[in-house]
Amino acid sequence: MNNVTLEIVAYSEAMIAIQKIRCAVFQIEQCVDPDLDFDGQDPEAIHLLAYVEHEAIGTARIRYLSDCLAKIERVAVIPTYRGQGIGKQIMDYAIAFLSRQKISEIKINAQVHAKAFYEKLGFQQYSEEFDEAGIPHIEMRIKNPVPFL
Ligand code: COA
Repeated sequence: MNNVTLEIVAYSEAMIAIQKIRCAVFQIEQCVDPDLDFDGQDPEAIHLLAYVEHEAIGTARIRYLSDCLAKIERVAVIPTYRGQGIGKQIMDYAIAFLSRQKISEIKINAQVHAKAFYEKLGFQQYSEEFDEAGIPHIEMRIKNPVPFL
Protein backbone atom coordinates (compact mmCIF):
# COMPACT_ATOMS: atom_id res chain seq x y z
CA MET A 1 0.00 0.00 0.00
CA ASN A 2 1.48 3.35 -1.05
CA ASN A 3 -0.45 5.97 0.89
CA VAL A 4 0.93 4.93 4.28
CA THR A 5 2.69 7.45 6.52
CA LEU A 6 4.97 6.26 9.30
CA GLU A 7 6.03 8.32 12.30
CA ILE A 8 7.86 8.00 15.59
CA VAL A 9 5.41 9.52 18.07
CA ALA A 10 5.52 10.63 21.70
CA TYR A 11 3.46 8.27 23.86
CA SER A 12 2.04 11.18 25.83
CA GLU A 13 0.58 12.64 22.63
CA ALA A 14 -0.40 9.47 20.76
CA MET A 15 -1.50 7.17 23.58
CA ILE A 16 -5.17 7.21 22.59
CA ALA A 17 -4.43 6.08 19.02
CA ILE A 18 -1.89 3.47 20.23
CA GLN A 19 -4.25 2.10 22.86
CA LYS A 20 -7.13 1.91 20.37
CA ILE A 21 -5.13 -0.31 18.00
CA ARG A 22 -3.63 -2.49 20.73
CA CYS A 23 -6.98 -2.94 22.50
CA ALA A 24 -8.62 -4.04 19.24
CA VAL A 25 -5.81 -6.37 18.18
CA PHE A 26 -4.31 -7.80 21.37
CA GLN A 27 -7.12 -7.58 23.88
CA ILE A 28 -10.27 -8.10 21.81
CA GLU A 29 -8.93 -10.20 18.92
CA GLN A 30 -6.26 -12.19 20.77
CA CYS A 31 -7.75 -12.10 24.32
CA VAL A 32 -4.52 -10.81 25.91
CA ASP A 33 -4.86 -9.56 29.49
CA PRO A 34 -4.87 -5.71 29.37
CA ASP A 35 -2.39 -5.60 32.28
CA LEU A 36 0.09 -7.66 30.23
CA ASP A 37 -0.35 -5.49 27.13
CA PHE A 38 -0.16 -2.20 29.04
CA ASP A 39 2.69 -3.30 31.27
CA GLY A 40 3.82 0.12 32.48
CA GLN A 41 6.73 0.31 30.03
CA ASP A 42 5.00 2.45 27.40
CA PRO A 43 6.00 5.88 28.75
CA GLU A 44 9.71 5.00 28.40
CA ALA A 45 9.39 3.17 25.07
CA ILE A 46 9.69 4.56 21.55
CA HIS A 47 6.42 4.30 19.65
CA LEU A 48 5.69 4.09 15.96
CA LEU A 49 2.37 4.69 14.25
CA ALA A 50 1.31 3.96 10.67
CA TYR A 51 -1.41 6.19 9.23
CA VAL A 52 -3.64 5.94 6.19
CA GLU A 53 -5.36 9.25 5.46
CA HIS A 54 -4.72 10.47 9.03
CA GLU A 55 -6.21 7.32 10.58
CA ALA A 56 -3.78 5.38 12.80
CA ILE A 57 -3.98 1.76 11.60
CA GLY A 58 -0.76 0.14 12.81
CA THR A 59 1.72 0.41 15.62
CA ALA A 60 4.86 -0.99 17.25
CA ARG A 61 7.04 -0.05 20.18
CA ILE A 62 10.80 -0.23 20.71
CA ARG A 63 12.75 -0.66 23.93
CA TYR A 64 16.50 -0.53 24.35
CA LEU A 65 17.78 -3.50 26.36
CA SER A 66 21.44 -2.37 26.22
CA ASP A 67 23.65 -0.02 24.19
CA CYS A 68 23.63 -2.45 21.26
CA LEU A 69 20.47 -4.55 21.72
CA ALA A 70 16.88 -3.36 21.19
CA LYS A 71 13.54 -5.14 21.29
CA ILE A 72 10.60 -4.46 18.99
CA GLU A 73 7.25 -5.23 20.58
CA ARG A 74 3.49 -4.79 20.18
CA VAL A 75 3.58 -4.97 16.38
CA ALA A 76 -0.02 -4.69 15.23
CA VAL A 77 -2.01 -3.75 12.15
CA ILE A 78 -5.79 -3.51 12.39
CA PRO A 79 -7.47 -6.42 10.57
CA THR A 80 -8.92 -4.50 7.61
CA TYR A 81 -5.45 -3.25 6.62
CA ARG A 82 -3.56 -6.55 6.90
CA GLY A 83 -1.97 -8.30 3.94
CA GLN A 84 -1.11 -5.04 2.20
CA GLY A 85 2.51 -4.66 3.28
CA ILE A 86 1.86 -2.31 6.21
CA GLY A 87 3.32 -4.62 8.87
CA LYS A 88 6.47 -4.88 6.75
CA GLN A 89 6.61 -1.09 6.37
CA ILE A 90 6.33 -0.68 10.16
CA MET A 91 9.15 -3.18 10.74
CA ASP A 92 11.34 -1.68 7.99
CA TYR A 93 10.88 1.75 9.55
CA ALA A 94 11.74 0.45 13.05
CA ILE A 95 14.81 -1.40 11.73
CA ALA A 96 16.00 1.67 9.81
CA PHE A 97 15.49 3.83 12.93
CA LEU A 98 17.49 1.41 15.09
CA SER A 99 20.27 1.12 12.49
CA ARG A 100 20.70 4.88 12.66
CA GLN A 101 21.00 4.56 16.47
CA LYS A 102 23.92 2.13 15.92
CA ILE A 103 21.96 -0.78 17.38
CA SER A 104 23.68 -3.95 16.20
CA GLU A 105 21.09 -6.54 17.25
CA ILE A 106 17.29 -6.53 17.45
CA LYS A 107 15.17 -9.13 19.20
CA ILE A 108 11.47 -9.87 19.17
CA ASN A 109 9.29 -12.32 20.98
CA ALA A 110 7.31 -13.43 17.96
CA GLN A 111 3.95 -15.08 18.09
CA VAL A 112 4.55 -18.43 16.39
CA HIS A 113 1.90 -17.72 13.72
CA ALA A 114 3.93 -14.67 12.63
CA LYS A 115 7.30 -16.48 12.36
CA ALA A 116 7.31 -16.34 8.53
CA PHE A 117 6.46 -12.61 8.62
CA TYR A 118 9.60 -11.92 10.68
CA GLU A 119 11.75 -14.39 8.73
CA LYS A 120 10.98 -12.42 5.56
CA LEU A 121 12.47 -9.40 7.35
CA GLY A 122 15.68 -11.31 8.15
CA PHE A 123 14.97 -12.44 11.71
CA GLN A 124 16.05 -15.93 12.77
CA GLN A 125 14.66 -18.18 15.47
CA TYR A 126 16.69 -17.83 18.68
CA SER A 127 14.76 -19.91 21.24
CA GLU A 128 12.45 -22.82 21.72
CA GLU A 129 8.73 -22.14 21.87
CA PHE A 130 7.46 -20.56 25.11
CA ASP A 131 4.20 -19.16 26.42
CA GLU A 132 3.67 -15.41 26.75
CA ALA A 133 0.24 -13.97 27.55
CA GLY A 134 -1.29 -17.39 26.79
CA ILE A 135 0.05 -17.36 23.20
CA PRO A 136 2.90 -19.54 21.87
CA HIS A 137 5.98 -17.43 21.14
CA ILE A 138 9.58 -17.82 19.98
CA GLU A 139 12.42 -15.37 20.42
CA MET A 140 13.81 -14.19 17.10
CA ARG A 141 16.83 -11.96 16.43
CA ILE A 142 18.51 -10.11 13.63
CA LYS A 143 22.17 -9.00 13.77
CA ASN A 144 23.55 -5.95 12.00
CA PRO A 145 20.26 -5.30 10.22
CA VAL A 146 20.51 -3.61 6.85
CA PRO A 147 17.76 -0.99 6.60
CA PHE A 148 15.52 -1.14 3.53
CA LEU A 149 14.67 2.58 3.80
N1 COA B 1 2.13 -15.68 8.61
C1 COA B 1 2.92 -15.83 7.51
N2 COA B 1 3.26 -14.82 6.68
C2 COA B 1 2.79 -13.62 7.01
C3 COA B 1 1.96 -13.38 8.12
C4 COA B 1 1.63 -14.47 8.94
N3 COA B 1 0.86 -14.35 10.04
N4 COA B 1 1.66 -12.06 8.16
C5 COA B 1 2.27 -11.51 7.11
N5 COA B 1 2.96 -12.43 6.42
C6 COA B 1 3.77 -12.24 5.22
C7 COA B 1 2.93 -11.67 4.09
O1 COA B 1 2.35 -12.69 3.33
C8 COA B 1 3.95 -10.86 3.32
O2 COA B 1 4.71 -11.72 2.50
P1 COA B 1 5.20 -11.26 1.02
O3 COA B 1 6.10 -10.05 1.27
O4 COA B 1 5.93 -12.44 0.51
O5 COA B 1 3.97 -10.90 0.28
C9 COA B 1 4.89 -10.33 4.40
O6 COA B 1 4.75 -11.24 5.51
C10 COA B 1 4.54 -8.91 4.84
O7 COA B 1 3.18 -8.94 5.26
P2 COA B 1 2.37 -7.60 5.58
O8 COA B 1 1.21 -7.47 4.67
O9 COA B 1 3.29 -6.45 5.68
O10 COA B 1 1.82 -7.96 7.05
P3 COA B 1 0.56 -7.29 7.79
O11 COA B 1 0.41 -5.87 7.44
O12 COA B 1 -0.62 -8.16 7.56
O13 COA B 1 1.01 -7.38 9.33
C11 COA B 1 1.05 -8.58 11.39
C12 COA B 1 1.45 -8.59 9.90
C13 COA B 1 1.61 -9.86 12.05
C14 COA B 1 1.64 -7.37 12.08
C15 COA B 1 -0.51 -8.57 11.45
O14 COA B 1 -1.00 -9.77 10.92
C16 COA B 1 -1.09 -8.38 12.83
O15 COA B 1 -1.23 -7.26 13.31
N6 COA B 1 -1.45 -9.50 13.50
C17 COA B 1 -2.06 -9.44 14.81
C18 COA B 1 -1.08 -8.99 15.88
C19 COA B 1 0.12 -9.89 15.92
O16 COA B 1 0.01 -11.12 15.94
N7 COA B 1 1.30 -9.26 15.95
C20 COA B 1 2.55 -9.96 16.00
C21 COA B 1 3.00 -10.03 17.40
S1 COA B 1 4.54 -10.93 17.50
